[in-house]
Amino acid sequence: MKKCRLAVFASGSGSNYQAIAEACADGRINAEIVLLVCDKPGARVLERAKVFGTESFAFNPKEYESREAYETLLATMLDERGVDYICLAGYMRIVGKVLLSRYEQRIVNIHPSLLPSFKGAHAIQDAVEYGVKIFGATTHFVDETLDGGRIIDQGAVVYEGNDIEELTNLIHNIEHSLYVKTINKLINKKF
Ligand code: GAR
Repeated sequence: MKKCRLAVFASGSGSNYQAIAEACADGRINAEIVLLVCDKPGARVLERAKVFGTESFAFNPKEYESREAYETLLATMLDERGVDYICLAGYMRIVGKVLLSRYEQRIVNIHPSLLPSFKGAHAIQDAVEYGVKIFGATTHFVDETLDGGRIIDQGAVVYEGNDIEELTNLIHNIEHSLYVKTINKLINKKF
């Protein structure tokens, strides 16, 4: 069966990118990452991409006139590489109409909370402050809203301690296997 062609979009450390890249490399996912897109030149994910030999494109959104302008460029790059799915992996930016219309139901995101609770950039901290005891991660199709769109998979972590770093690591571990599961669902159209 032909390998599915993925683009991963990331802004930061890239542990989810790496989890996907490892799963592609060892055959747990019948896919390859054909492009890593990063909106933060200098982000650690770019180093990780080098290690895996993934082509990367880093850009500074401030150098473009609008979201539409940089997304039009990205759409061309994605089309040229025959991308089937876009996986947002810590991409801290709203996706606009240009990509959403071109890749309808083909853009997915991962978020470190049990959505629809605790959207946004500080989900784990916000949940801790709220007194949550069951944390988790969610994968979902992407729409034009922040961390919005139909849920695909969720994983839960029961945690009653007070070490946010330990909790973050537990959630990241869940995320890494969750994303592999979700991509397999996309490839097999079982969602
Ligand atoms: C992950 O926890 C991901 O769920 C989160 O950013 C982190 C990226 O980590 N995404 C969001 O909060 C989206 N709203 P990573 O760079 O190590 O993959």
